[in-house]
Amino acid sequence: MTESTAIRWEQDDTGVVTLVLDDPHQSANTMNQAFRDSLAVVTDRLEAERDSIRGIIVTSAKKTFFAGGDLRDLIRVTPETAQDLFDAGLAVKRRLRRIETLGRPVVAAINGAALGGGYELALACHHRIALDTPGTKIGCPEVTLGLLPGGGGVVRTVRLLGITDALLKVLLQGTQYSARRAQENGLVHEVADTPEDLLAKARAFIDAHPESQQPWDRPGYRIPGGTPANPKFAANLPAFPATLRKQTAGAPYPAPRRILAAAVEGSQVDFETAQIIEARYFVELAAGQTSKNMIQAFFFDLQAVNSGANRPQGIGSRAVRRVAVLGAGMMGAGIAYACARAGIDVVLKDVSLEAALKGKNHSAKLCAKAVAKGRTTQEKADALLARITPTGEAQDLAGCDAVIEAVFEDSALKHKVFQEIENVVAPDALLCSNTSTLPITALAEGVQRQADFIGLHFFSPVDKMPLVEIIKGERTGDEALARAFDLVRQIKKTPIVVRDSRGFFTSRVIGHFINEGVAMVGEGIEPASVEQAAAQAGYPAKVLALMDELTLTLHRKIRNESRRAVEETGGTWTAHPAEAVIDRMVDEFGRTGRSGGAGFYDYDEDGRRTGLWPGLREHFTRPGHEIPFADMQERMLFAEALDTVRLLEEGVLTSVADANIGSVFGIGFPGWTGGVLQYINGYDGCAGAGSGTGLPGFVARARELAARYGERFTPPALLVEKAEKAEKGETFTDAR
Ligand code: NAI
Repeated sequence: MTESTAIRWEQDDTGVVTLVLDDPHQSANTMNQAFRDSLAVVTDRLEAERDSIRGIIVTSAKKTFFAGGDLRDLIRVTPETAQDLFDAGLAVKRRLRRIETLGRPVVAAINGAALGGGYELALACHHRIALDTPGTKIGCPEVTLGLLPGGGGVVRTVRLLGITDALLKVLLQGTQYSARRAQENGLVHEVADTPEDLLAKARAFIDAHPESQQPWDRPGYRIPGGTPANPKFAANLPAFPATLRKQTAGAPYPAPRRILAAAVEGSQVDFETAQIIEARYFVELAAGQTSKNMIQAFFFDLQAVNSGANRPQGIGSRAVRRVAVLGAGMMGAGIAYACARAGIDVVLKDVSLEAALKGKNHSAKLCAKAVAKGRTTQEKADALLARITPTGEAQDLAGCDAVIEAVFEDSALKHKVFQEIENVVAPDALLCSNTSTLPITALAEGVQRQADFIGLHFFSPVDKMPLVEIIKGERTGDEALARAFDLVRQIKKTPIVVRDSRGFFTSRVIGHFINEGVAMVGEGIEPASVEQAAAQAGYPAKVLALMDELTLTLHRKIRNESRRAVEETGGTWTAHPAEAVIDRMVDEFGRTGRSGGAGFYDYDEDGRRTGLWPGLREHFTRPGHEIPFADMQERMLFAEALDTVRLLEEGVLTSVADANIGSVFGIGFPGWTGGVLQYINGYDGCAGAGSGTGLPGFVARARELAARYGERFTPPALLVEKAEKAEKGETFTDAR
């Protein structure tokens, strides 16, 4: 027994060694120094005692099987330390290879999440059995952190599944499979129902296969589906870069390309060389900026946000059991579905039972689709639907312990519906409004219990969008904030918390993106180039198309209200150059957006875009007027980033993690940046071109844009201050 290590050695009298992954110093097993040291000891011992060993089972004593690379270490890798990472990684891979070729059956008894390094460890075993529990997730999600599986994952999935399936099922999307789906897709061999069953199956495999070998170590082995050496396969190869371009739209995501290269190059050489190729690409990605951005946002920031770094402390949580959703339109119907899916009873109220039933029908459609796709069972879908009670009567809301209002965007109407129900629902019910633009403090004046009133801003389509922006009004109490936070977590969404302000965080910042795109059209730049610039910067939606979706009229209404609010408080409104373009589009050409049948784009009868409106070129474009493509991209990115810093200055945002997560998950700020403030920290030249210098480089570039395109790009004081301290290592970071 080697007790104080990350791998416990347990041997029974039949010659079966169980390697129990159980790092005594961490809640999860990771690829840290303790693990590497233990693996070295274990590998030597297995070889030394080979003759008395009949088989090996690898399993875990933690909730996760194995969590993979330690991201705290990986985010610190620099080009200077990259060689150390390369050496350490290769040493681990060679040890796993020694165990794999020991000549004894090795079984992975996967009893929890085996993602990334966890699945790679399992891949080095001859047989993989997964315990069928909700916690068992299997796959290689490295691509979602800007990395590739550098622990043999590319080499072995290619040899297990063939290049095409390895890329499409495992490596390029980072899909996380349940135990059963992993089996269906060939990632594991068997599924076990109980921990006892898992170990029994592992032993049975050892008994039946004393001479185990990996398929790729057997004589005559060929990679399934062929390799580029085969002309038939080679003919299909050009399709992959095209698929990649489609996946990334030309945006600067380096990982997919490196994964493709590692898979293809590695398929043409022997196992050992393939491992070295994989390690080289892995280290290149780990030392680059994009993986740092993505690790910061999608691991550290996301964890901070979801674990309640921004939730008031010391307030106990109680689950919501029955929620009233007011308004069964697009948003209300989606919110009802999300709540019912999380097991909450929903009373869905609209002006009439018919209208409410229409809203419930949205859930019926989503359920039918989920059943058809095998994502849920008919029984679960029926139970979900049974939890939604449609109604046109206020008295049916009796006993509801939370209210989410989603009627038309009109404060008088919102006041009225809250008055109708405030004394019907539970006396301490949480009162939430899904308004996207109306100030929460003013809306709260319509209820008696203002401390219980809060903004809960969902995004459309609600069933898909993971974010909810919680807005704390001036009189909102901490208890309400804690309860709202818990409710968002209860329905398995990600909550960010902001203070009340016009447009809150998300609507205000996305407005700057749109304004910048529209302003460029007004300057005479080709509209198609503007759209291309947004796509290649990594925005999921093109900017003019997005304007059409949101409608020009709504954008103008919000702008007019903001202007009135500024002027009423004695301020001076600075018009954005986009305003004149929107006014002309609506007033002169009657083009209001997609719902009006015409906007920056033309639409067919079914509301599908048929192309950019040719009139744009006639009325706005100045042929030959061009600005650098980099400027086009960065005007959009910088406009959003700079306003986010202003929101921090104004105290609307109080957490960097909230800003990063909110921007990517709520309003489509490009994921490769790690979010709107991480983009500033890691500024690396246009679209990650590698010529930036972090915060100071960002400030210098903002000044350049201000000189060329207007005062709105002038860096705010907080940003300048941060940039001055950047040399001492200060950045916009509050979670790690
Ligand atoms: P919608 O027009 O689809 O639905 C509004 C619903 O409210 C309609 O079904 C209407 O019959 C119902 N309603 C009107 N008066 C009512 C009353 N007295 N009692 C009960 N129900 C009543 O509107 P949508 O898009 O669902 O928006 C609702 C709210 O959500 C608005 O405040 C909007 O600003 C906000 N929001 C909208 C987003 C979007 O993408 N559409 C995103 C986030 C928030």
